[in-house]
Amino acid sequence: DHNKLALPVGTTLDRFIMRKQEDFPYATGELSQLLRDIALAAKIVNREINRSGLIDIAGAYGSQNVQGEDQQKLDVIANIRFIRALRNGGEVCTIISEEDEDMIQTGNNQGKYVVAIDPLDGSSNIDVNVSIGTIFSIYRRVSPTGTEGTEQDCLQTGTHQVAAGYVIYGSSTMLVYTTGNGVNGFTYEHSLGEFFLSHPNISTPKTGAIYSVNEGSSEYFSEAMAAYVAYCKQQNFSARYIGSLVADFHRNLLKGGIYMYPATKKAPNGKLRLMYECNALAFIVEQAGGKSSNGRSRTLEIEPKGLHDRSPLFIGSTELVEKAEEFLAAEY
Ligand code: AHG
Ligand code: MN
Ligand code: MN
Ligand code: MN
Repeated sequence: DHNKLALPVGTTLDRFIMRKQEDFPYATGELSQLLRDIALAAKIVNREINRSGLIDIAGAYGSQNVQGEDQQKLDVIANIRFIRALRNGGEVCTIISEEDEDMIQTGNNQGKYVVAIDPLDGSSNIDVNVSIGTIFSIYRRVSPTGTEGTEQDCLQTGTHQVAAGYVIYGSSTMLVYTTGNGVNGFTYEHSLGEFFLSHPNISTPKTGAIYSVNEGSSEYFSEAMAAYVAYCKQQNFSARYIGSLVADFHRNLLKGGIYMYPATKKAPNGKLRLMYECNALAFIVEQAGGKSSNGRSRTLEIEPKGLHDRSPLFIGSTELVEKAEEFLAAEY
């Protein structure tokens, strides 16, 4: 049982991917290569982020993306870097990105995989030296190889992910990912240019004492949502909200807690994007023993209708997410 073959802390990411290859649903080596391509792009983006205060790549790019958000220069740079790495790697036929309205065809029609990516998460924190991230989901295409990927390849439910992960550019840079056999975290060692296994087999606490939500929007919360937030306060939970989903999620994953981006009167589906943000983190949290829901049903089973669909998100420790669902049941 290769899964039981525990690899020691300090194993390099490349070696880990190689040794774990047998655990993948398709032990072809192509998914391994794809994960290495993502890790390489992450190193490049990490370098850009680290020196962003010194060169002129902080601040607004001067355009809006399909989400109606002002793009930051690093949004655009990260998007280019990841697309380039995936195109050069050759394993991916089609990419969908938060920053691009349409599917991106890589020209690798033999590629068996489709990638959904939030190249840079936490845009508003770039200019102020606060943790930001990258989030990705990997799907196997359903259309036959030899042609471009289709919208059907891209619009699969989260249950079909074969791998998902995130990079957090924080006080240290980490890559955390799953291929459906647990969750492992790797910390980047700058001087060596390598990710090393630092958080093997991450399991998230069943419960916790942190709640993370933008309470500035509480005017627009439903009564049920407001009642759940009041409950968190009665329980004396700590409020923690960075405003970078990756960083808020990562903290709660390790410490126990709940992250919420609810539906509001202004945004009936919340803000977060199902394909670029919610599904990847939902896969990871479930693999770590936690739970993810839109307040009513399992994130991973939500049928996407469009590439840029949004979904409310309640994610983290199982007991806390279930409690939130209990409160929200009053709404439905
Ligand atoms: P992105 O920077 O990729 O557009 O994502 C921003 C998201 C997410 O990172 C964060 O949790 C959320 O927006 C914060 O939104 P509010 O400012 O509305 O709280
Ligand atoms: Mn954005
Ligand atoms: Mn994001
Ligand atoms: Mn983003």
